[in-house]
Amino acid sequence: MELKITCIPGDGIGPEIVTEAKKVLDAVAEKYGHDMQYTDILMGGASIDVHGVPLTDEAVETAKSADAVLMGSIGGDTTTSPWYKLPPNLRPEAGLLGIRKALNLFANLRPAVLYEELAQACPLKQEISGNGFDMLIMRELTGGLYFGERKTVEENGVRKAVDTLTYDENEIRRIAVKGFDIARKRRKKVTSVDKANVLDSSRLWRAVVEEVAKDYPDVTLEHMLVDNCAMQLVKDPTQFDVILTENMFGDILSDEASMVTGSIGMLASASLNDTRFGLYEPSHGSAPDIAGKDMANPIATILSASMMLRYSFDLDKEADAIDSAVKQVLRDGYRTGDIMSEGCEKVGCKKMGDLIVERIK
Ligand code: IPM
Ligand code: MG
Repeated sequence: MELKITCIPGDGIGPEIVTEAKKVLDAVAEKYGHDMQYTDILMGGASIDVHGVPLTDEAVETAKSADAVLMGSIGGDTTTSPWYKLPPNLRPEAGLLGIRKALNLFANLRPAVLYEELAQACPLKQEISGNGFDMLIMRELTGGLYFGERKTVEENGVRKAVDTLTYDENEIRRIAVKGFDIARKRRKKVTSVDKANVLDSSRLWRAVVEEVAKDYPDVTLEHMLVDNCAMQLVKDPTQFDVILTENMFGDILSDEASMVTGSIGMLASASLNDTRFGLYEPSHGSAPDIAGKDMANPIATILSASMMLRYSFDLDKEADAIDSAVKQVLRDGYRTGDIMSEGCEKVGCKKMGDLIVERIK
């Protein structure tokens, strides 16, 4: 099969981790007889440095012409990097928000899994983490507060900032459908998270989710307020299967969920539209402090490449091969610094990539 992939190495550790993911994809291609064609585009700070903007129209066109996009990470140190002296619409993050909107990637899937092999990394007490957990956050990605109208004005000498949070029922319905569809393939439970005791947008969210749920009688639906959900994630994470939520709540809760696994360097994500097209990226950021030092953990990006094979190309066997190679490397006792524990062998980014490749061949 011919796979046309646009890569966004991006900033910070991005280029290193994408290189390792490509190595793993190439090993899969060789073993299973596929042809991977990569085209790199610039985004974020890397694009600012060359083009003065975090995302160009040409880059968007290149991404659109591919079957899928594999991304590393974007952004720099917000206190020291010159990128953050620019107006907000020209900063690295604007590139990421821009490509999500341009490609209509409204559904963001963020699995948070406690790997048996990394149980020690979980910061929760053993009686809470139990026998591990496996949840998926389905975050709405192109609406809500992050895409509403915003402005900062001065009224009578007082500075005032406004952000608007808007959702229409169609935006809610399409993400709810994705959430229920995926729950059906998992443990058949959806926890819809909102702030319906305060926000109108949340009351509409809840009403539309209820409507969609009628088509999924086999899936259990519960509603949870976002503040309670933040608490429940550390109190009893095993209760969750699919968490369905709007853009900002999903941004915050997915960081929390990844932290309770203790290994954010392991967590992949997929951003999908209505077709098979998707953008795949690790859940973590660009870690500028360790960039270029061969210290980053490439596993989240490698697992994102696996999600890409599964969701955009229907190559389940190939995706399974990557997932089990990753598990095998962990079982064999190799760790990058972020997930290091006693008795294991510490390796760098490149070596981790090599070890995974060896287990695919
Ligand atoms: C994420 C990031 C982005 C977001 C930022 C970089 C704009 O935090 O993917 O979670 O908030 O969506
Ligand atoms: Mg975030």
